[in-house]
Amino acid sequence: MEEMFFRLLGKVLHSPVTIHLLRSTRLLYQNSHPSWVECNQISLYLPLLPASFHGFRLVQISDLHLGTWLSLEKLVEVTEIINRYEPDLVAITGDFVSFHPQEYKRGITEALRKLITNDGILAVLGNHDHWTNSEIIRSALNEAGVIELNNRAIHIRRGQDRIYFAGIDDHYVGKDRLDRVRDLIPEGAFSILLAHEPDYAEISSQDGLFHLQLSGHSHGGQIVLPRIGPLYLPLHGRKYPDGLYKVKDMYLYTNRGLGTAELQIRYNCPPEITLFELLAQPPNG
Ligand SMILES: [Fe+2]
Repeated sequence: MEEMFFRLLGKVLHSPVTIHLLRSTRLLYQNSHPSWVECNQISLYLPLLPASFHGFRLVQISDLHLGTWLSLEKLVEVTEIINRYEPDLVAITGDFVSFHPQEYKRGITEALRKLITNDGILAVLGNHDHWTNSEIIRSALNEAGVIELNNRAIHIRRGQDRIYFAGIDDHYVGKDRLDRVRDLIPEGAFSILLAHEPDYAEISSQDGLFHLQLSGHSHGGQIVLPRIGPLYLPLHGRKYPDGLYKVKDMYLYTNRGLGTAELQIRYNCPPEITLFELLAQPPNG
């Protein structure tokens, strides 16, 4: 019922008249501010990470929603910031657009092509990508050389060691197939899951297969009132809305995203780029 309401609301909000009106709501956290995006650096000790991956540099961005609050110029700026981190890998956890994917397809491809990594760029789709046109987004990612982890897994090697990166297609729209992903990861392997909705951790943490899940979707709430917290959180983004969590034995990180939903307002909740340094030994060990 709630999903139907929000889908209907989305259709109303995506009409040309509404889009024009919403573009005038860029309030409270101006993206013209010099420090418009917060860059969080997190050193994460993961005891089962193979020693040859110690110091692996993983950058996460999420929820671009290109064309609403995040402009193409700002996305290019994001790629320049990421390149300065000299990442091994970039992970993008869904929601590339809110509407008109064809209009932004070329921009997504050209911006993401600017990213420089050692081991590649991975992505999963989010609910908005499916609600608009997932095939256009898939094509944009493919042309940019981004690997979409659509209910599948890949591995990265350092000598004899391997770590696995898996991704599920969007849970909100019922396209997640964790059973398929499970079959692709050898028992005992170190693995990281990309899943757009953070509350999916309740499912993905059950059997101890994943050591870290990267998610977005919540936008951190966009409007976070002091002492009260987020004014609104979306379905599947309510239990773990922002930052680092431990769910059973699995770490979960929820990135606040770069863009906004239809309402182009952020308050006390800046956009985010996250750099993880994965550690196979404790920081002071
Ligand atoms: Fe989303």
